[in-house]
Amino acid sequence: MCGIVGYLGNKQAFDILIKGLHRLEYRGYDSAGVALVDNNGNLNVYKTKGKVNNLEQYCKDKNINGTVGIAHTRWATHGEPNDKNAHPHYSQSKNLAIIHNGIIENYLTLKTFLISKGYEFKSDTDTEVVVQFIEYIMQSQKCDLYSAVTHTLTQLVGAYAIGVVERNNPNLLIAARKASPLIVGVGNNEYFLGSDASPIIEYTNKVIYINDEQVVKIERGKEIEIHDLKNVKLQPVINEISLSLDDIEKGGFEHFMLKEIFEQPKSLSLCMNGRLNKELNEIKLSAITDFGDKFDKCQRIVITACGTSWHAGLIGKYLFENLCRIPVEIEVASEFRYRDPVILPNDILIAISQSGETADTLAAMELAKKQGAFVFGICNVIGSSVARMTDTGVYTHAGPEIGVASTKAFTTQVAVLVMTALAVAKRKNSIKDEEYHSIIGELSHIEEKINKIFQQVDHIKDISKIFTYAKNFIYLGRGYNYPVAMEGALKLKEISYIHAEGYPAAEMKHGPIALIDEEMPTVVIAPDNTNHLYQKVLSNVQEVKARKGRIIAIVCEGDDGVAKNADYTIEIPKTVACLSPLLTVIPLQLLSYYIAVAKGRNVDQPRNLAKSVTVE
Ligand code: F6R
Repeated sequence: MCGIVGYLGNKQAFDILIKGLHRLEYRGYDSAGVALVDNNGNLNVYKTKGKVNNLEQYCKDKNINGTVGIAHTRWATHGEPNDKNAHPHYSQSKNLAIIHNGIIENYLTLKTFLISKGYEFKSDTDTEVVVQFIEYIMQSQKCDLYSAVTHTLTQLVGAYAIGVVERNNPNLLIAARKASPLIVGVGNNEYFLGSDASPIIEYTNKVIYINDEQVVKIERGKEIEIHDLKNVKLQPVINEISLSLDDIEKGGFEHFMLKEIFEQPKSLSLCMNGRLNKELNEIKLSAITDFGDKFDKCQRIVITACGTSWHAGLIGKYLFENLCRIPVEIEVASEFRYRDPVILPNDILIAISQSGETADTLAAMELAKKQGAFVFGICNVIGSSVARMTDTGVYTHAGPEIGVASTKAFTTQVAVLVMTALAVAKRKNSIKDEEYHSIIGELSHIEEKINKIFQQVDHIKDISKIFTYAKNFIYLGRGYNYPVAMEGALKLKEISYIHAEGYPAAEMKHGPIALIDEEMPTVVIAPDNTNHLYQKVLSNVQEVKARKGRIIAIVCEGDDGVAKNADYTIEIPKTVACLSPLLTVIPLQLLSYYIAVAKGRNVDQPRNLAKSVTVE
């Protein structure tokens, strides 16, 4: 949700800021803007509706001088996406400019107050209120920008990552954060701001993660200063990150999403590296070695997440209940946080998040933590807010996921859940050695099995072309593949804008079957003909067929039951039931991708979406 970039150094800021915006465009892309302070007393703000390319075009004949600047790519919250609501926003005197990611909940109260003091507003945004208030404090309290920002932040309710610059002060850049991500890159006599490391990594691998309610003062020729809102000076902690430029570029693929789909064998291998020992046929997770007693004691696990991560969490429920015999409740974070949930002594909350910045997931964690739950995180982004808030956890190590529709994050989350459940089951003795070893054996072959599915990519592409006409899709699965049905449907709606729903296959006759006719494609996930649910899914397939529904079936190699009733089949290699989501989801990702491409959609930046949902 909105990407912010900043620069102060010896180079011209414009190109660095624009490149940074392109890297952060996955976070929001309805408008973009830049503010530059030059040495001649100018603070120039340029902003336009649309993507960063539009901004670049718009700036072609403008004064883009300045070695300090801030820039923003927006995902609209307050006010429609247009030029005036794009960031940066000027203060009344045009002496200050601000960029902001987050939501200021009490902005109306502050706006009313400022209007009573004679301030006029040019936009509908909450952000403009912040910069006007900073200016009001500077003027009324005769203080400098840094103090005024700090004072202003104490008055705000809500979430923010901000960058502020001042006309006549080309040597100063102020930033701050609360509940929205902010990273400072530390170069050679230069500093960078970013919502994540992607705009920074080209220049430096040294970063400072800014914590909530911290204000950063970057002054040319001086050491960076960080204070909390009570003005207590804090020691900046510089971390080295291992992200490479290749990780965040397309590498010859047409879209990030396609690259990320094809990266899954590698990302799963990185995810399991050092955790799955093929020789000893065992799983070792330091989080379970160190905190396994929490799982021994707990009577219940609660899993919370949003979207795709929630689908992975649903698979986690099946895993922990089947393998560990621990009851599991799962709930989307936005409901959990406002439901006044009952947290029992010894409860473990497992929070799952690719970005580690999802506002609802963070709030759910905070609530559970306050009530005494032990918080276990499954997260992709190192140093993210989720990672920092957990008592312990496991990184997915999927590498940066830039395509807005989540793919490799999902499969690595499932892999982490499998490994965690296996490690817990082993210590609880709730799993037979034979099953434990068979799952690990299968897990160690999962990469080659996914690669085998990729051999059918042309076949999947051909099927996709046939179904671009569809207005609706139904996805059916059972057991471990019921969450996969929901994930397949979510992928399709996100990027192709075709309406799709995922159902537990047997639920179909309780309502959705009314939708079935020759126009309606049904995707059936029935990967294992030895599974006790297979015959039941076969009956569901026959029910669809009897109503002239068109069926695409995901089945095991050599299947002769469901496949016979399907119009199109995609075969996947056999594996054990609990690992089948790692395989069945792959053709569904590809199907969505190729349908969306055939329909001419913007796959990596679908309408209305943003990668990291840092607002409620
Ligand atoms: C779907 C998708 C979203 C995210 C959700 C949670 O493709 O990407 O549904 O899964 O917004 O995001 P994280 O995992 O970053 O907390």
